[in-house]
Amino acid sequence: MPQSRIVRISDDALARALGADELAAAFERKGHEVHRTSSWGMHWLEPLVEIEGMGFGPANIGDVDAILDGSSEKAIGEIVEHPFIARQQRLTFARAGQTRPTSLEDYLATGGGIGLRRARQIGPDKVLEEVLASGLRGRGGAGFPTGIKWKTVAQTPAEQKYIVCNADEGDSATFADRMVMEGDPYALLEGMAIAGLAVGATQGYIYVRSEYPDSIRKLNEALKHCAPIIAPFRCEVRVGAGAYVCGEETSLLNSIEGKRAEVRAKPPLPAIEGLFGRPTVVNNVLTLAAIPHILEEGGSSIYDKLGVSRSKGTMPIQLAGNIRHGGLFEIAFGITLRELIYDIGGGTESGRPVKAVQVGGPLGAYLHPDQFDIRFDYEEYTEADALIGHGGITVFDDTADMGQMARFAMEFCAAESCGKCTPCRIGAVRGVELIDRIRAGGRAADAVEIQPVMHNAPKQGRLPEQEIALLTDLCETMKYGSLCALGGFTPFPVMSALKNWPEDFMPRETAANVAERNDA
Ligand SMILES: Cc1cc2nc3c(=O)[nH]c(=O)nc-3n(C[C@H](O)[C@H](O)[C@H](O)COP(=O)(O)O)c2cc1C
Ligand code: SF4
Repeated sequence: MPQSRIVRISDDALARALGADELAAAFERKGHEVHRTSSWGMHWLEPLVEIEGMGFGPANIGDVDAILDGSSEKAIGEIVEHPFIARQQRLTFARAGQTRPTSLEDYLATGGGIGLRRARQIGPDKVLEEVLASGLRGRGGAGFPTGIKWKTVAQTPAEQKYIVCNADEGDSATFADRMVMEGDPYALLEGMAIAGLAVGATQGYIYVRSEYPDSIRKLNEALKHCAPIIAPFRCEVRVGAGAYVCGEETSLLNSIEGKRAEVRAKPPLPAIEGLFGRPTVVNNVLTLAAIPHILEEGGSSIYDKLGVSRSKGTMPIQLAGNIRHGGLFEIAFGITLRELIYDIGGGTESGRPVKAVQVGGPLGAYLHPDQFDIRFDYEEYTEADALIGHGGITVFDDTADMGQMARFAMEFCAAESCGKCTPCRIGAVRGVELIDRIRAGGRAADAVEIQPVMHNAPKQGRLPEQEIALLTDLCETMKYGSLCALGGFTPFPVMSALKNWPEDFMPRETAANVAERNDA
């Protein structure tokens, strides 16, 4: 009988979707002890098998014997030395791949709980100071300084305050929140307990998108185990209502209160009047999960030393779309898109040239290869009319039609709009119609008749240049007139596509004629 070995296989939803459960059962049937861990984040290698530090992937049940007898062609060597892992600076994902997600024992044995203990020793004022000193900015999209938000809540007197974790994770190409909740749920809960201590809140809610059943299950299990450790802080999981706009913080608060998820006008800020009208910290999963490390080391001793200018610490970047090595890559701010896409991501999965990269989810700009030297830094992205958002990167090869992608951005906004303000509710519908007309050479029928008095020109017979001017004008109105970033940022993908790939907006037959002329 061969010796029983410890085999480690991730139980992350991505690995499970690719057959990790069946693979784990196959190793068990052979008499080996299987530990279901979090994922290393090398998604193209999942399901990844680890035995005594050595990795094998992507593995399936047909590979089991060869993995065990050492003849597998799926061997990738020592996992921690794999270039994708070795190059990272993992703080939030320090335990990724190494612990069993809901094992409190594993968590405590790998430094878990030290941040909260230290926070209790130094007290709320010092905790606030350290979070401020760390330079941590919200990872949910807006990049607002976390310490300032917490300080506002701390300084607002109220009998009851709340910590709300935004785990709606609706951006395209993002999965880092899910990986934290499924892979290291105690880190998030510890971060929330520290936030509660800092601002004087005893109740927390985690608003998790309904499409993440594994996250919901694991968080609830972790909560049962760690309740005595985080007490007097209490926390509950709430399942999301299923719209992109539910991730907008005020809409999310309405949803937790049982109301329609419609955006609230600001002010008042949630930090002053948030959940049930009480001062509330709303933070993203990654923001809160970064807190235990900051407290463990002292704010200015780690985060402050990493990153560039006002973008401090590390960012868990999510590589997705048409990319060879997709996955979770955590590194200090300052890395360029070129490094991320080519050196780390290995270029496109299709092998074709990269045409465009969308950073920051559906509201992020499409960046042209000429812009790939831009550094991952909130300010550099703002200067380029782009956004880092939640750190999702979607790669497109040269077969992508950017006019179609611009149309999709408007269509997405029209479908997901909460309807509260006109520039977004009406503007996005008009945006779709306009792009259709531009691409059809001005002849597409409108879904809704546009009154000539509104635009001072009949819609039929308008030149494509006039339609493009109208689209630009509409984008300006949406950008400056919308109540929240859904309507306000949709112009970024639209205008960046128009600016960088104007040929993709040409009427289809015109583009063909141009090509024909050029060939002749
Ligand atoms: C349409 C829309 C969707 C959003 N979705 C999310 C989301 O899924 N997760 C998230 O953390 N923030 C999301 N945000 C940003 C939140 O409103 C808010 O800024 C964030 O939760 C604050 O946390 P942070 O300071 O830790 O980033 C969204 C914003 C908008 C306008
Ligand atoms: S911009 Fe759109 S989603 Fe935001 S408040 Fe206005 S209608 Fe609602």
